[in-house]
Amino acid sequence: MNQLHYIRAGSGQPLVLIHGFPLDHSAWEQSLPHLTVHFDVILPDLSGFGASALPEGGCGLDEMAASLAGLLRGLGLSRAFLAGHSMGGYVALAFARQSPEMVLGLGLISTQAGPDTPEGQANRHKTAAAVAEKGPGVVADAMSPKLSANPAHEALLRETILRQSAPGIINALKAMAARPDSNGLLSHFDFPVSIVHGLADALIPAERAREMKAAAEQRRSTVHLTELPGVGHMPMLEAPTETAEALKTLL
Ligand code: MLT
Repeated sequence: MNQLHYIRAGSGQPLVLIHGFPLDHSAWEQSLPHLTVHFDVILPDLSGFGASALPEGGCGLDEMAASLAGLLRGLGLSRAFLAGHSMGGYVALAFARQSPEMVLGLGLISTQAGPDTPEGQANRHKTAAAVAEKGPGVVADAMSPKLSANPAHEALLRETILRQSAPGIINALKAMAARPDSNGLLSHFDFPVSIVHGLADALIPAERAREMKAAAEQRRSTVHLTELPGVGHMPMLEAPTETAEALKTLL
């Protein structure tokens, strides 16, 4: 477990917003004003991103989730809503696997419950080797044009990626490659689930969101799925109002 940097704003029930790869808490900036009126929002930087250090020897998604649980306990919070974007969704699922009693509800944004294919894993390791050699620019070049369907966001996303450290990026690539299949886990959730996915997502197809809905509905009849036409992989940036509305359904 390592100490995480975080920002906190708003009032209401606690909501942890977990950023994706290879970003930091600033990814939620546009959604924040729509959420602080309803929630006590906690915005951490995951281990190895933003201002949170990467622990010696690196860490997997389970350790990232354990650090989040440690952060909440340190703030005196025994339960919280969690919303994870993409890799942040993988961390949110790891958190729900480890500490279901701490979860009030789960928001799963532009993410998926399944593991990487062997080819996907090999690509992650190839990218990790390229980042070790050439730095975060490799990932910034590959990802910043694909993250948002709105080209106006590209420069901001590129800048955010270039702020991240090569060891943090490499660690997260290996951690994502090693993640387990969480589809079975979804069918055990007895808390509210709200899934958000852009129909123009160039990284994770909307079909993955529909699969998560079907899995979660095995236990609960009310699982929200918000599909956003014309929106890419960054709904909280591209459609902040709709994303916040979807998270409010958790209350
Ligand atoms: C993310 O946005 O966090 C990543 O694209 C997730 C992934 O590569 O699986």
